[in-house]
Amino acid sequence: MLRFLFSTFFSTFFLLAHADGIVDCLGTELDWYKTKVGETPCTTYERLRQICNPSFETGIMHTNAPPDTCMDEFGDCCCNSVAFALSMFCLACQQGKGIDAGAGTYQLYLQGSRPSGHSCSPVVNRSLPTHIEDAVCDQGIKIIDDIYSRTFWATGAWIL
Ligand SMILES: *[C@@H]1O[C@H](CO)[C@@H](O)[C@H](O)[C@H]1NC(C)=O
Repeated sequence: MLRFLFSTFFSTFFLLAHADGIVDCLGTELDWYKTKVGETPCTTYERLRQICNPSFETGIMHTNAPPDTCMDEFGDCCCNSVAFALSMFCLACQQGKGIDAGAGTYQLYLQGSRPSGHSCSPVVNRSLPTHIEDAVCDQGIKIIDDIYSRTFWATGAWIL
């Protein structure tokens, strides 16, 4: 019992980061994703971004959306709505709850610390650049269909 309380305490208040930068998720909110894909969205996100930036680690995401930004020198892996959606699913996983984020959240993900009106480029919506898609397939990274098509809001919001 004590052990149970202790581990509940820790999993509730601390997100545990592993050596590979992967952080455990809270609760059961994203269990459907783990069942379908065989890993957490944080792992999928890290694998996608590592195609362009091998040292990328998802780590503990910012709790205010956007949870991450696309600032890589070679931004083709993250300058798209697929990477943004994975980052939002990862945030939901780490927070153990659904996330609603206002209009413009996607644009802030693309902008990062650049001046207002600037972003990574080229921006690709609802798909990945062909050479990145090829690498995704070669590496056996599973990205579910809904992430390409259904989880996209034209205003740049996120409601799930
Ligand atoms: C991508 O989607 C965003 C959000 O709707 C939009 O502002 C942007 O113009 C779109 N870019 C392209 C290339 O379709």
